[in-house]
Amino acid sequence: MKPANNARYAAPMVLLHWLMAILIVTAFAVGLKIWSLPLSPLRLKLILGHKSAGIAVLLLLALRVIVRLASHVPPLPAHMSPIEQRLAHLGHLALYVLMLAVPLSGWAMSSAYGIPVVFLGVLHLPEWIASDPTLAEQLRWLHRGLNLLLALTIVGHAFFALKHHFFDHDGMLNRMRLGGSRSMEK
Ligand code: HEM
Repeated sequence: MKPANNARYAAPMVLLHWLMAILIVTAFAVGLKIWSLPLSPLRLKLILGHKSAGIAVLLLLALRVIVRLASHVPPLPAHMSPIEQRLAHLGHLALYVLMLAVPLSGWAMSSAYGIPVVFLGVLHLPEWIASDPTLAEQLRWLHRGLNLLLALTIVGHAFFALKHHFFDHDGMLNRMRLGGSRSMEK
């Protein structure tokens, strides 16, 4: 058993982590459903919800970056080698970049298709790319590709978090636990 690391993220970071995880998984699942549906009222309804969930990810990401810069970030467990720590930081950076790039590519695609993005049915967001069907099709593929990368990175992230929890017993998951802390040391 490795020494336990009970240092934790600040409560707002923990909340944002799990809220964004739920939104991203939901947006991803709804995106896959949209892909499988023919043009229909249900498809249009799902696209509206999907866009709002994606824009919410973008807004929460901005908040998360501010909270992260302003709050204490617990150090990684001391038993991790410098290379492992570097890879963990790179993985986190990739997650931040993809959480920005995926919603932005979706928004850009909608703009290029000339379809408005109305957040939660009330806030009309600017169309920041001129209507261009060829570009829209390319952005659609970009959105798909970035989603694939995001999904792979999230799977890797979850895999290593669970490995730390169940194999290294180093209390890594406690850093992102909602509620009171619980030591992994027996
Ligand atoms: C974290 C945020 C997001 C995730 C995880 C996500 C995920 C996905 C996925 C998995 C698909 C299916 C891809 C495929 O066709 O193979 C999709 C499609 C789509 N996304 Fe997103 N998306 C996000 C944000 C957004 C945003 C912010 C917008 C627009 C404002 C958007 C607009 C669309 C549209 C219009 C489609 C359907 C494309 C089509 O007609 O095939 N997405 N998304």
